[in-house]
Amino acid sequence: MAGRIPQDFIDDLVQRVDIVEIVGSRVQLKKAGREYKACCPFHDEKSPSFTVSPDKGFYHCFGCGAHGTAVGFLMEYERLEFVDAIEDLAHHLGLKVPRDEQAKESTPLAPLYELLGKAAAFYTQALREDSKAISYLKSRGLDGETALSFGLGYAPAGWDNLLRQFPDNDATRRQLLSAGMVIQRDNGGYYDRFRERIMFPIRDSRGRVIAFGGRVLGSGEPKYLNSPETPTFHKGRELYGLYETREAHRKLECILVVEGYVDVVSLACKGIRNVVATLGTATTPDHLRRLFRATHEVIFCFDGDRAGRDAAWRALQTGLGEIRDGRQLRFLFLPDGEDPDSLVQQEGSEMFLKRLSASMPLSDYLMSHMKEQTDTSNMDGRARLAELVKPLLNKLPQGVYREMLTERLAEEVGLKRNLLEPVLAEPADTRPALRRSATTSRSSGLRGTLVKQAIALLLHYPSQASKANHPAGLPQATQRGVSLILELLEIARQHPNITTAILLERFRDRPEKPHLEQLLGEEMLVTEQLAAQVLADNLTRIVSDAKRIRLEELVEKMTGGSLSADEKAEFLQLQKIEPNLGNPA
Ligand code: UTP
Ligand code: MN
Repeated sequence: MAGRIPQDFIDDLVQRVDIVEIVGSRVQLKKAGREYKACCPFHDEKSPSFTVSPDKGFYHCFGCGAHGTAVGFLMEYERLEFVDAIEDLAHHLGLKVPRDEQAKESTPLAPLYELLGKAAAFYTQALREDSKAISYLKSRGLDGETALSFGLGYAPAGWDNLLRQFPDNDATRRQLLSAGMVIQRDNGGYYDRFRERIMFPIRDSRGRVIAFGGRVLGSGEPKYLNSPETPTFHKGRELYGLYETREAHRKLECILVVEGYVDVVSLACKGIRNVVATLGTATTPDHLRRLFRATHEVIFCFDGDRAGRDAAWRALQTGLGEIRDGRQLRFLFLPDGEDPDSLVQQEGSEMFLKRLSASMPLSDYLMSHMKEQTDTSNMDGRARLAELVKPLLNKLPQGVYREMLTERLAEEVGLKRNLLEPVLAEPADTRPALRRSATTSRSSGLRGTLVKQAIALLLHYPSQASKANHPAGLPQATQRGVSLILELLEIARQHPNITTAILLERFRDRPEKPHLEQLLGEEMLVTEQLAAQVLADNLTRIVSDAKRIRLEELVEKMTGGSLSADEKAEFLQLQKIEPNLGNPA
């Protein structure tokens, strides 16, 4: 196995590489002030919310929350492992990736585990002896027993407290270095990495200490210091608290994923012991695989801030690839400015558990998040919704869950399942069925009622659309414009070679003409092929809307007085169709 890539080299590389060049060679960027913009390559969108900041060496998408450095970009975009992304960048800069020879000997891990265990013991002892550290933990509402079960400790102030716990020889120093516990000075000396910090030992699945997180007492920068990647510690794989969670429970109904060490310990203090934290990284597929080995339900509960919500959305995207039948993902959104710790300290565990049981299933979250980005009251918006959800659905493995979400989407966009499927099956950029509209402003002109959409369909594709099934009850529908639909249908059906122009001509002197022209000026998102089906669907809904409106009228009348015999009969008839209405609670 090749040795590790020295961190210095990675830092240097990230600093030297031009992110605009890296991203720009794969995505068409446009300069916008100090930044660059593009349509996000990681989600489907039509107006650019993906920005690259050369100053920050960072990209960010306001649409889907994707962000990162040039390295992260290569990993995401080219689906590379970290090491391969580094190799790529180095190659790009004409550099050769150096390897840590020391680590290449593939250090036997046993001495490292032993050393880390010893360090943890030293920190717990030091905590007992430091009243300042103890009172800090108390001030955070953490009790001694729980602190002990998580092995919390304290790294005292000073440069060599930990060093002095170990034999003074070169081999040991090198092991401490390789375990990430000390830092090498330029002159070859060493000093403790963690000083004056509350220490959170991170344990592997067997309970061995593999790394630490250290929090400053009170305020100071950085708030948390973590062990670097070491032979025993790979951030993207480990979860703080997983070992403790499994110790506390034989059988786990669900596991809660939070952001911080303190959240885990604080919830445990309140008796909620099935909680893990990612270690300052996004949730990875590795994390999820681990979690799903321990339970069938994972609930994400990130902080109630922008970063937390972004993290949740990213967790959803990662989660989609790991969903299998029988696995559940849920999301708990906290009030603004709160994290799980602050909330459970304020409200207590009962209230927190209540929130937990009301957490959002993945499907709800996915739909509501997507719907926030589109106006689903009109055809245009619903078509866009389908397009937005498509790449996400396609991440899901085939199975019951995917079926269910597709069903759900069909419902949301108001298309029959068999109409939606061809849309979902299309490759991202050639979509004959529902086209992207050129600009939102133009196409949003189509906003409006089902009636308006039906008229637009008939105008754009008179010969095809008029083949639509004409649902019984349409002539009785009372919505404004239904009579125009009927008229258009009638003209189109009578005219074997009907065209849009012909149809328009018929309205030359009618007051509706400008409206019709305006509708024609707007982009049509449905293709001709699907026009009849979509129109039929639309008309059916117009009729059922009409029935509902009528039923509501009758209910109103009933509560205000009484119905005539005819009205009663009508009411009973309608109620059969809309059983959920007309049952005054
Ligand atoms: P937060 O900043 O949300 O802190 O970081 P917190 O967990 O609420 O901690 P308290 O309540 O202020 O004590 C969440 C997690 O992000 C990582 C740590 O893993 C932390 O638990 N983090 C945060 C770092 O690694 N470094 C930092 O400087 C900050
Ligand atoms: Mn906190």
